[in-house]
Amino acid sequence: MKVLAAVGSPRKEGNTDALVSAILEGAASVGAGVEKVNLAELRIEFCDACETCIQADPNADYCFKEDDMRDLYPKVAEADCLLVGTPVYFFSLSAQTKVFLDRLLPFSSGERIRTLQGKKLALAVVYGDADPAAAGVSNVINVVRQAADYANMRWMGYICGQAENLGDVAENEELLDKARQFGVVLARA
Ligand SMILES: Cc1cc2nc3c(=O)[nH]c(=O)nc-3n(C[C@H](O)[C@H](O)[C@H](O)COP(=O)(O)O)c2cc1C
Repeated sequence: MKVLAAVGSPRKEGNTDALVSAILEGAASVGAGVEKVNLAELRIEFCDACETCIQADPNADYCFKEDDMRDLYPKVAEADCLLVGTPVYFFSLSAQTKVFLDRLLPFSSGERIRTLQGKKLALAVVYGDADPAAAGVSNVINVVRQAADYANMRWMGYICGQAENLGDVAENEELLDKARQFGVVLARA
């Protein structure tokens, strides 16, 4: 059982990172293999919508672009669970997270759609607004949950926490505990 976490915040060791790390800690505590990638540290270009990836034969490269998705595609393909971590930015996903999801297009049709089928997909979200309804959290949840449905992945749900400044999640023991428990559930489900 392997969990791959993609963290979509540009803030190094920020709130998203702290939340995702606690989830991975929980998963690892019950024997899961875990890996975390920080999308902001990688070079991930926009999808050009050339659609070569969805017409190509399944043995061809995932995408012609020579960027860091080259390493990420096989990691996604090998993981049993993909954990997406994002802050709420303008009532939506961070741009880094969105570009990563767009670039999963090669898995969205043909033979390769089977690569994602049955894999678990989970979400970790942090938001600054005191009111989660005003923060836009539900928009983020809907995007990722619909992506799971589309790809026939197992939607494992989400964990979200209010956090504004650097260190807010790291100091929130209650949230961190919840996140560790979520990690245990992800690993065992
Ligand atoms: C460009 C930008 C847009 C933001 N938009 C929202 C928003 O729409 N709703 C919200 O509740 N918080 C918003 N925030 C606050 C972040 O979600 C919050 O500070 C979060 O803790 C950042 O997580 P991080 O430390 O992982 O980067 C925004 C922050 C930035 C920098």
